[in-house]
Amino acid sequence: MCGIVGYIGDKEALPILIDGLKRLEYRGYDSAGVAILGDDLHVVKTAGRIKDLEEKLKGTKLIGHLGIAHTRWATHGIPNDINAHPHYSESKNIVVIHNGIIENYLELKKMLMKEGKTFRTETDTEVIAYLIEEFYEGDLLKAVQKTVSMLEGSYALAILSKEEKDHFVAVRKDSPLIGGIGKGENFVASDIPAVLPYTKDVIIFENGDIVDVFKNKMVIYDKNLNVIERPIHKIDWDISDAQKGGFKHFMLKEILEEPDVIVEALRGRIKNGEIEIPELDFDKNYFKNINQVYFVACGTAYHAGLVGKYLVEKYLNIPAQAEVASEFRYRNPVIDERTLVFVVSQSGETADTLAALRLAKEKKAKTIGIVNVVGSSVAREVDKVVYIHAGPEIAVASTKAYVAQVEVITLSILHLAKIIDKLNEANEKLFVEEFQKLEGFAREILENKEEIASFVSTTKNIEETFFIGRNLDYALSLEGALKLKEIAYVHAEGYPAGELKHGPLALITPNSLVIAIDTFTPLSDKTISNIKEVKARGGKVLAIAKKDNTRIKEVADSVFYIPNVLDDLTPIITVIPLQLFAYYMADARGLDIDKPRNLAKSVTVE
Ligand code: F6R
Repeated sequence: MCGIVGYIGDKEALPILIDGLKRLEYRGYDSAGVAILGDDLHVVKTAGRIKDLEEKLKGTKLIGHLGIAHTRWATHGIPNDINAHPHYSESKNIVVIHNGIIENYLELKKMLMKEGKTFRTETDTEVIAYLIEEFYEGDLLKAVQKTVSMLEGSYALAILSKEEKDHFVAVRKDSPLIGGIGKGENFVASDIPAVLPYTKDVIIFENGDIVDVFKNKMVIYDKNLNVIERPIHKIDWDISDAQKGGFKHFMLKEILEEPDVIVEALRGRIKNGEIEIPELDFDKNYFKNINQVYFVACGTAYHAGLVGKYLVEKYLNIPAQAEVASEFRYRNPVIDERTLVFVVSQSGETADTLAALRLAKEKKAKTIGIVNVVGSSVAREVDKVVYIHAGPEIAVASTKAYVAQVEVITLSILHLAKIIDKLNEANEKLFVEEFQKLEGFAREILENKEEIASFVSTTKNIEETFFIGRNLDYALSLEGALKLKEIAYVHAEGYPAGELKHGPLALITPNSLVIAIDTFTPLSDKTISNIKEVKARGGKVLAIAKKDNTRIKEVADSVFYIPNVLDDLTPIITVIPLQLFAYYMADARGLDIDKPRNLAKSVTVE
């Protein structure tokens, strides 16, 4: 996730672009850059935040009425000055900014290198500038059209040519792009807040749109360059609302982004009907020697690791453990070069997780990072890194990162199972089909979010809750309880459903609320028995169950149904109602949801 802005009009472009970037900084903030086309073309870019770009711009004169600008959230190539956008072709005629991921950039890069091109950056974006230049014959629009027909992946692009000073071109596929229609000026941007101070008239571009932006008009074309029309919307949000996509909190916005996050985490990882994680190019013989697997992480990331433990045991048939990093680092874990350690971290900077990683490496274990922030410490120090591509998470409570972590962990395990011949074709085919249903399932759950809100309205004064489940549902129960504790300040415990009667059942009274997660079909009957134990003590039960679970409504007080997802993929979508439950509970209590008391987003102290 990055932020892009483009401007053409009578005003000086630079201040408008910098202002737009600031309003988009929530989309990414590891580097920034701007290109201004006046009498001459100027490109200035830097690692760091927008204020660092402003610092670099001090004393320079970037005069021009046309420009494009970018705030980056790295996906390919660490955040540094060179990898920052804009990127340009060898002759510097073509300048490009990009939000998205070009899946076939390596093939394109190889092709261009064979033709003698030299690349300066590690990004996937640079190939776009080079390709446009290849096709350029005095018509930027046509060169862009030819180029995008060769690109696979997601992209919102803004492109200018030094030779064409009266317009720039923008394109959208699977990454957001809007247009702002002003008087004698026009804009494009990744999101509405960037243009709101200048215009309320906004076009939401659709996939495949190619937009030619002049100061007095904006012409929209389809992929064959036929002119098309898009409606203009009047936006009446204020800017702070708009940054949250019109939602009350970043946390809700991030939960609602989960269907897209599911798609992004999967992107490029299913090819020709096969699961493939190119980053995990382990040698089969090396991998055959692995005799144990660890997942180390903290908090929500640890709960994602716990899902991994169950799946490693099932699909790799290797002993597996998940452990919180702050414990792992101060034990003497018995590990050596035959141990594989997954290090899971959204930020990639959590102090305990980093220390656990360093200990694992000291003991010669092989390490795989499951990380969101590109170029973060964990990403740099692990042997292999698989990025989850969830985009920046602003709310302190982690939501969309968990969804992507679990998805990427699951894909990684299945990929490793293939390496050691433990995933047969039929099973792989089934997974490939089921992974592709997840986005739709997540949308379906979110469409029913008011059901959760209305359940919360009947229980908002509750002081104590239990989350119970078995197997993968147990891993989820821990995450459901953590979310409720951290943002709604309600005491919550996640418990294996079968363990209730060994102690905690003593706490169940008519004032207790139990959230029973019953989505793991093989153990559903057992969980239903545990629900009956709770009901017998007067406890109130909200169950989360699959649609085809016909028995659950006879035992639970309320049921929230999720689609019939494959059992081993349940955590990826079952977590959504749990996150919503915590969210609505915190909202009903009027709490500061995005910044819960005593907590910080990235815990860089032990
Ligand atoms: C909970 C939460 C934390 C983090 C934990 C690890 O909602 O956000 O529990 O999951 O601090 O952070 P990362 O993943 O950045 O290492």
